[in-house]
Formats: sequence, structure tokens, C-alpha cells
Amino acid sequence: MAHVLVVDDDTGVRSFAVTALKRAGMEVAEAADAPEALRRLKRESFAVVVTDLRMPGPDGLALLDQVRADHPDTEVIVLTAFGTIDTAVSAMKRGAFDFLQKPVESPEALRAVVRRAMERHALRAHAEATQGGVPTLTWGAPSMVPVVSALQKVARTQSTVLLLGESGVGKEVAANAIHAWSPRAARPFVAVNCASLSATLLESELFGHERGAFTGAAARRRGRLELADGGTFFLDEVGELEPGLQARLLRVLQERRFERVGGEQTVEVDVRIVAATNRDLEARVREGSFREDLYYRLAVFPVRLPPLRERKADIVPLARTLLARIGGDLGRRGLRLSDSAIESIAAGDWPGNVRELSNVLERAAILADTDVISLVAPPARPAAAAPSLVAAETAAIRAALDLHGGNRRRAAEHLGIGERTLYDKLKAYGLS
Ligand SMILES: Nc1ncnc2c1ncn2[C@@H]1O[C@H](COP(=O)(O)OP(=O)(O)OP(=O)(O)O)[C@@H](O)[C@H]1O
Ligand SMILES: [Mg+2]
Repeated sequence: MAHVLVVDDDTGVRSFAVTALKRAGMEVAEAADAPEALRRLKRESFAVVVTDLRMPGPDGLALLDQVRADHPDTEVIVLTAFGTIDTAVSAMKRGAFDFLQKPVESPEALRAVVRRAMERHALRAHAEATQGGVPTLTWGAPSMVPVVSALQKVARTQSTVLLLGESGVGKEVAANAIHAWSPRAARPFVAVNCASLSATLLESELFGHERGAFTGAAARRRGRLELADGGTFFLDEVGELEPGLQARLLRVLQERRFERVGGEQTVEVDVRIVAATNRDLEARVREGSFREDLYYRLAVFPVRLPPLRERKADIVPLARTLLARIGGDLGRRGLRLSDSAIESIAAGDWPGNVRELSNVLERAAILADTDVISLVAPPARPAAAAPSLVAAETAAIRAALDLHGGNRRRAAEHLGIGERTLYDKLKAYGLS
């Protein structure tokens, strides 16, 4: 698949652009005019179109309009001749990604802007893919009524939302639901997982960076906050943010402004912020690892998602939703649960959350020879992993006594306790 389509009636400009982009490892196709470009766009999909504005026949603006209408995922960069800046501005207003003046100053200048456009394209495609992959919020339990109603009400506002709950309860699903129910639904939903990146990488992911901000920063790059402009920004695992970033984020929450890494220019964004954590943020504030002021900015509207054990009536509807998705992934759209399986699921004691339920169903689906799943075993509750203190001490005392042939003084020394204490414990635990 070609990634970039270069459109220009001037063969010199075209071959300059094609060479510059191919050198950067991009796949490039070319067209001499707008009609040819449109024919190619019908056959193949392009991440980016680079087009001249003034061309015989339909011009670059007409091509831009057509691409925006028929291929909304394709980014368009326009090339404008010196002195036609007005046209460039109107191209931007009509949805061009960016413009470059001709003659283009260097191959690198062209590559930089095309790279940014490809990034935007990739991110958008990714956002759509994950949104497609995130199921709509399924629920049915009475304990979810106030939760869902709170999510729906807050969705219509601009307020920051903090989603709380154990791992796997559906915080990400809820964040997507808030976006989908909000007036921002048609704009991007951009997520960042604060636990998945190192602080330095996370900083440039969030805020972007200027050219030369650090080694390898060959061009300016917009951060995810900027890409979320007009939409919703989801800060997942916000409890893991390190102190420096907490301070920078606080300013975003207060002013919706920031500077890119290595930059001085202030960027303003219009984003609704949703954050999530499975940590006890208040405890983190008390112990000093999470800024109190940031906590209060985030916790404007906290929503706690109850664990599955507090919403047993959700289990069956959730199982149906999850199984439909699993069936889709496995290419077995007919997958369903037998009545007895539904009964056992409903009656089951589910130690985990929605993610575990999904895992159990996936295993059952793989094991089932037909599309009707009749056996679904709730995961066994893991045996208490940590022994009690008494059990641990008993085992340690036994081992020490064995090792020292029953010599209590040496066993006590070995255990790091006094002989008297050992004696007391032996008596108390009935070991003698
Ligand atoms: N209400 C729901 N409806 C449908 N699917 C759900 C629901 N809640 C959770 N899921 C599914 O369960 C899995 C876990 O949900 P999710 O990733 O949203 O959990 P989480 O709370 O973000 O967990 P973690 O804290 O571990 O990141 C996902 O596969 C998700 O699609
Ligand atoms: Mg999550």
C-alpha cells in the first residue's frame, strides 16, 4: 500500500518530492493532476496527499475538498507558490493538514511535515480502531443505575471526571462511554496510559516537542493533548504519574495550556479530561506521592465503578456482550451459551472482574467443540497466597530446630530471637 500521493503538474517538483520521501522509506505514488489523483484514491488508500494548489483543470483546493469529503482519514498537505499565502490559509480552513511554500526549502522540510501528517493519520486510525474495539457499556445490575446515570449526566458537561475502581472493572469502557455520550463525540478520543511509558517519553507523548528538543527530535511533533483538541483526553492509570509531570499536568487542568518539550510557545487546547486509576489516590496524597492540588483538580467528579461481586445481575448480560466480541475475534459468530451455562454463570461466585470473566469465556469458547458453550467454570478463588503469621513462624521454628538437631539455643540464635521468646512460642504454638 502506498502511503503518500504526490500531485503536481510540474514533473520537476514531483520528482523532487517523490525522491525526498522515498529516501525516508515512505512508499510514494504520483499523479499529474487532480482527476488522476482522485482515480488513484479510489483504488488505493493513502495516509497523506501532498498537492500543488495551482494546476490546470480542477485545482488543489478542489482536490482538497474532494479528499475531505470522500476520504476523511487522508491528510492533505498543500504546496503553495510564493505570494499565494491567502490561498494557503483558505486551504487550512478547508481542512488541509498543513502547507509548504514552494520552492520547498529542503527535502527534510518536506519529510518533516509529511511525517507529522502520517502520525496524525496513524493516531486517528488507532483511536478509531480502539474505539471500535471498546464495547459499549453493558450493564443491568441495580447497583449500576446511579453509576450509569452519573456518567450520562456528566458526559454532557465539560467537567473533569475521575474514574475509580479495581483492575478490570471497566474504567476504560466508561471513559469511552463518557466521550460517546458527550457533545464531543465526533471529535477525537485520545488515551495515554501513564504507567506504560518512562517519564521522558510520556512527557513528549503528552506535550509534544520542538525540533531539536533532544537528540533524535528532528522535527516538531505535536503531543497527544494537541491531537485531542476539541475532543476527550483520557489519562489512564493517572496514579502512576511522576511528580514532575504531575506539576505540568496541573497547569493543563487549570489553564488548558502548556509548552511543547524544548519550546517556549504556549499551546492552547480545548480538551475534556477523563482520568482513571485503580489506586487509592487519597492515600497517595497523604503519603506525599501525589500532589494534593492535582488530586482536587482531577476529583471534581469522581465515579466509582463497583466490582463485579457487587453487581451480580451484570454478569449474564456482560457474558453475552463479551461472548459476541470473542466470537467475532475467533471468527465464530454463532457462539452462544447453553441455558445450563447461563445458570451456572449467574449462580457462580466470581472472584475477579470483567476482564477475568472475559478470559474465562474465551477459554470456554476455545475448548467448546460446537458453538454452544455448555460448560463455564468460574475461576477457582486463589488459595490465600500469604500464609498466616503463625503458620510462617511455626514453619521457621521447625526448620531451625531441625537444622540444629533440636538445640534450642542455636535455633533461637538462627532465628534471631532470644531463647526465652523461642520457648514461649514453642509453648504457645504447641510445638515443644
Ligand atoms: N460494562 C462493560 N461492558 C462491556 N465490556 C466491558 C465492560 N466493562 C469491562 N468490559 C471489558 O472488560 C475488560 C476490562 O475492562 P477495562 O479495560 O475497561 O478495565 P479497567 O477498569 O480499565 O482495568 P485496569 O485498571 O486493569 O486497566 C475489557 O476487555 C472491557 O472491554
Ligand atoms: Mg484500564
